[in-house]
Amino acid sequence: MTVLPIVTVGDPVLRERAAEVGAERLATPEVQRLIDDMIETMRDAGGAGLAANQIGELLRIAVIEVDHNPRYPYKPPIPLTIVVNPIIEQIDDEQFENMEGCLSVPNMRGRVPRWVNVRVRYWDRDGNEHDEVRCGLAAGTFQHECDHLDGVVFLDRVIDTRTLTTWEMFERYHKDAFFEEMRQFVARVGS
Ligand code: NI
Repeated sequence: MTVLPIVTVGDPVLRERAAEVGAERLATPEVQRLIDDMIETMRDAGGAGLAANQIGELLRIAVIEVDHNPRYPYKPPIPLTIVVNPIIEQIDDEQFENMEGCLSVPNMRGRVPRWVNVRVRYWDRDGNEHDEVRCGLAAGTFQHECDHLDGVVFLDRVIDTRTLTTWEMFERYHKDAFFEEMRQFVARVGS
């Protein structure tokens, strides 16, 4: 497996819609290797997820994994999940404010509204269909990665740009309050 370079905001590939992956193409060694490399790249960078756009490939593939992530210590674990051709829909109108970051937006976080409850349909790397309900912070992670595949980055969804902060200033001024907010949120919605 290879750690690939991650493109950063300003690269036009982050602004393009990624293309659906057919079942035959998904099964090719090239795409399977790409998925392995995306997993390695996400883990190396300490991300909670990575979309193919972020390594310069316009395919509707994202990888997600949260396992005691030091960037996001308040996030409950998500086992490694490969999502291919995902379709995400809100289930109701309930929203929460997440404090998002992104490997393609170095050293920046900001508050973004996300749906609390979503239905996600996708294929895994073997082409098996999945139809799941995801809630809370896990739902937020899925929405962030699916956005990438549509050429959207979290900055586009920041309503109040005064919430933007570097990671250093987050640690200094915002972390304690936000972690407590998330602790209560996770206790309420369960993930
Ligand atoms: Ni991102």
